[in-house]
Amino acid sequence: MTKTTLTVIKADIGGFVGHSAIHPDLIVKAEEELQSSKDKGQIKDFRVLWVGDDMALVMTHDKGENSKEIHKLGWDTFVEGTKVAKKLKLYGAGQDLLSEGFSGNIKGMGPGCAEMEFEERTSEPFIVFLADKTSPGAWNFPAYKMFADPFNTPGLVIDENMHAGFEFDIMDVKNNKIITLKAPEESYKILAFIGAVETYVIKNIRRRGDKMPSATMSTDKLSLLAGKYIGKDDPAMIVRCQSGLPAVGEVTNPFAFPHLVPGWMRGSHTGPMMPCSFEDSNPSRFDGPPRVIGAGFQIAEGMLVGPRDMFNDPGFDNARQKANDIADYMRMHGPFEPHRLPPDQMEYTTLPKIQKEVKQRWMECSDGPSTKDLADQHAYQATKDDELE
Ligand code: F6R
Ligand code: MG
Ligand code: MG
Repeated sequence: MTKTTLTVIKADIGGFVGHSAIHPDLIVKAEEELQSSKDKGQIKDFRVLWVGDDMALVMTHDKGENSKEIHKLGWDTFVEGTKVAKKLKLYGAGQDLLSEGFSGNIKGMGPGCAEMEFEERTSEPFIVFLADKTSPGAWNFPAYKMFADPFNTPGLVIDENMHAGFEFDIMDVKNNKIITLKAPEESYKILAFIGAVETYVIKNIRRRGDKMPSATMSTDKLSLLAGKYIGKDDPAMIVRCQSGLPAVGEVTNPFAFPHLVPGWMRGSHTGPMMPCSFEDSNPSRFDGPPRVIGAGFQIAEGMLVGPRDMFNDPGFDNARQKANDIADYMRMHGPFEPHRLPPDQMEYTTLPKIQKEVKQRWMECSDGPSTKDLADQHAYQATKDDELE
């Protein structure tokens, strides 16, 4: 049985307009590039997808995971796209290409990468989920529901192929560590970690017993990689479905609940994840709300059949309505938490600068400054401010 590798590489190489969407010329360019490598036999097939201001290259090939050749192809495609973006002066052209040149593996260079090698089953349905304006921890909730919650996935109870459960590789993205925990017996431990979505992120899910690769996520933390704010990583996730894995409907159902995720405006706010059709994946209200699309495929000898636009279904209308209601509610908080993220989770913040400006004006609380002390300090500061003007 031949193995197929599915590689999804995703990057923001320039927004149109601002960070809201992608310009069609970038898609055309990427399709030209990938078509020419398909013609050369380098890849078997490809599709260029997008969500918000991110472009995703979905490629099939036989070169396995972490192939230098395939990662370089992804990188070079984004470099060519960036040239178009620069010409059109699109916003943040090339923003996710953090390195000057390709160095062997796309991981750690800016773009997000989710990939999986598998033996094609008799029929191989899978869904590529792409999100914009959020971080990889956004997948924790829906992925847990799909593979570990029988209230979402009756197959865990009814289909004996799933009875043994699934194992979860969970990354500690801040300390660069990884652990494997097993559901159902370690599900409380799994939840203890993955509930902290900015620190613990599900990387892979396998079926117990035969170790069948079932799901994989991009986990590249741009902010940590760049050492400063560049943009939220806007993650990708691949989920295989059916025949002893969660059914397509069990995989899409968690998104009927628009759970709260970190991201949105300036990567610094909590907001609902809205499932939407390809056509509606243009976050323009307060640069959001965060969005997810689902691109469904079948695969036949490495050739992609699809995509089907999985959230283009009135079955998700209530989720979208609810997401809009939650967005209204959260927005009413303005700059207050929990709408605004806590300082250590904001992607960029002016707080250190403001802290520095008022550094001298903080007084010790322990000896209880009197209201007079505080008023005097205020008067003193007012004089200083007058002097400065
Ligand atoms: C969030 C995002 C946007 C920008 C915002 C400000 O991930 O990309 O919300 O943070 O539009 O962008 P700049 O600082 O480029 O003006
Ligand atoms: Mg952007
Ligand atoms: Mg984006």
